[in-house]
Amino acid sequence: MNFGCDYYPEHWPEERWTKDIQMMAEAGFNVVRLAEFAWSKLEPEEGQYDFDWLDRAIKILAENRIRIILGTPTATPPAWLARQYPTIFRVDEKGIRSSFGGRRGYCPNSSIYRDYSQRIVLELAKHYKNNENVIGWQIDNEFGGLCYCKSCLKEFRKWLKEKYSTLEQLNKEWGTIFWSQTYTDWDEIPLPRQLDTAHNPSLLLDYRRFISDSYISYQKLQIDILRKSYPHKFITHNFMGLFNGIDYYKLAEPLDFVAWDNYPNLKSMEENKSLANENIVKVSLSHDLMRGLKRQNFWVMEEESGPPGWEYVEPTPPPGRIRLWTYQAIAHGADGILYFRWRTSRFGTEQFWHGILDQAGVTTRRYEEIRKVGQELQSVGSKLIGLEFPQEVAILTSYDEQWAFGIQPNNPQFNYQEHFASYYRILNRWNIPVDVVSIRADLSKYKLVIAPALFLINDELVENLKEFVKKDGTLIITFRSGVKNWNNVVLEEPLPGKLNDLLGIEVVEYDSLPSQQKCKLKLIYPEIEPLSGECNIWCDIIKCGGAEVIGRYAQSYYKGEACVTINRFGQGCAIYIGTNPSPEIKESILKWATEKSGVRSSFPADSKDLEVVLRRKEGKNCLFFLNHSGEDNHVKLDSAYVELLENRKYAKGSIMTIEPKGVKILWET
Ligand code: GLA
Ligand code: ZN
Repeated sequence: MNFGCDYYPEHWPEERWTKDIQMMAEAGFNVVRLAEFAWSKLEPEEGQYDFDWLDRAIKILAENRIRIILGTPTATPPAWLARQYPTIFRVDEKGIRSSFGGRRGYCPNSSIYRDYSQRIVLELAKHYKNNENVIGWQIDNEFGGLCYCKSCLKEFRKWLKEKYSTLEQLNKEWGTIFWSQTYTDWDEIPLPRQLDTAHNPSLLLDYRRFISDSYISYQKLQIDILRKSYPHKFITHNFMGLFNGIDYYKLAEPLDFVAWDNYPNLKSMEENKSLANENIVKVSLSHDLMRGLKRQNFWVMEEESGPPGWEYVEPTPPPGRIRLWTYQAIAHGADGILYFRWRTSRFGTEQFWHGILDQAGVTTRRYEEIRKVGQELQSVGSKLIGLEFPQEVAILTSYDEQWAFGIQPNNPQFNYQEHFASYYRILNRWNIPVDVVSIRADLSKYKLVIAPALFLINDELVENLKEFVKKDGTLIITFRSGVKNWNNVVLEEPLPGKLNDLLGIEVVEYDSLPSQQKCKLKLIYPEIEPLSGECNIWCDIIKCGGAEVIGRYAQSYYKGEACVTINRFGQGCAIYIGTNPSPEIKESILKWATEKSGVRSSFPADSKDLEVVLRRKEGKNCLFFLNHSGEDNHVKLDSAYVELLENRKYAKGSIMTIEPKGVKILWET
């Protein structure tokens, strides 16, 4: 297992390095990330490079058998560069330019910044070309951020020209006849800066795509340089879980693997059970999303290892929590874990973003906990790397859909990610492994696919879904699907548009509910136990074509009308949920859908806080039991296993106890 931390030797006197690195080695670390914000130390003056200090740190690390990932330092330009070229900084919606002093302030389209970035990356590449202790690269740091500067404006127009070829086409696709927006010259097209009203939704969506593409092309500049010098070393970037400012599927494409930064929100985690559960599920969802970006295992490049905070200090991870997060990550597909950061900085913005050690530099409780994990991984880690995931259920997402809902949430209560998570959460609680994948992914491996709110639709997506259902797949689609084309323009067909024949329905009317308002509904399908409940946010009023009714409204002027339906299509079926039912109703539908499609749970456990994740390697099952609660959990084993961490055998039928925040890893014998 790749196990280590993010280390900033440049923040500490050199006399201390050896001690720190020895402590890392004692904790079982075999990899660190270095240098990702160290531009001013690597290039103190323009064209004057100094890699000696980094070489010395790498040497001590290598002597302690710790390998290195080098971060390219471009998230923090040096002061000399900022002073010479203030235009490298981003401009906000109001037209105000950012300035030196923070992080990630640069514009990805600044040609000056691109130029200087390439130079420093090239120098690093040349210098470390033959250094075998450097095993890979992390490009920049947590890409993201909107910009409305002149360079972006110029590039945006170029981007649009490439996309639409002619202005006539752009005018047509965007519907610029509305509010007299017809463009007669490319130079008339604005960036969506702040207005008293709101911009054209098509322009807004293209702008989000353009910004995303800008970071992707900026990343490519660096990748191209590194690939040339380092064809045999890996290149990654540290992603941010549920962050949706960039199309992460596209950003991940040219990388060898995805890495991400996991800072679970501990606020109220200990005392408020339901909030705590939300957070745990969010972490699992983020891991699954990150694994789905390339449909392969990933790394956690920054794992929380102390109380985070800039101005305020957030809660401290209580005993056992860091260990549990570590195994949760491995369970969901991490092949590497690095804790952020080795030692808490004495200065700078992140003085209170605590790492493994505090500023004092002595052993901490958190260090001891991580050292214990290190010992465990030294004995079992190689077994846990490269575990496969069972592929029975997928939830689909796309950044285009997320952006479109960001522009128009449709209902003030509707939050795409929350809607998405509401389905994921139920499956996670039942310990049903879920892949979160792109709408373009090959779905043939899955039995059940959930496609929440496919607001934008295109032929390719419809075909992908139809192919899946035809061959005996079970598909669930939810409300606000099929509404718009890929350019964010509403379709002319009755809803759900291009999905009509797949779903066998027509949405004849809809009702967007005011906040707090709920509507009653009933499940009435013979295969499902009758159940009454409520829904909120949105009510589609459905007329069935070929579909059968699963649920009907029990209130309002649409009382008795269909709200949940099922349609046979080929050998499979497509279920439509035209509203946002309460959790019990969603559970009831999902329970039936999973049973019907033959989806298995990793391990049927009925505790909300006991997460069980099934993985596989060389034909053997591997089960992770993660007890997120503060109480013991007991499970009866369905077969004989070896527990890896304690190296203990369990016979079939025996009862295993998982202590609070405890972890058990069972290997099928
Ligand atoms: C991000 C960055 C880290 C650190 C933490 C805490 O994840 O990648 O460098 O700044 O946030 O703020
Ligand atoms: Zn810009």
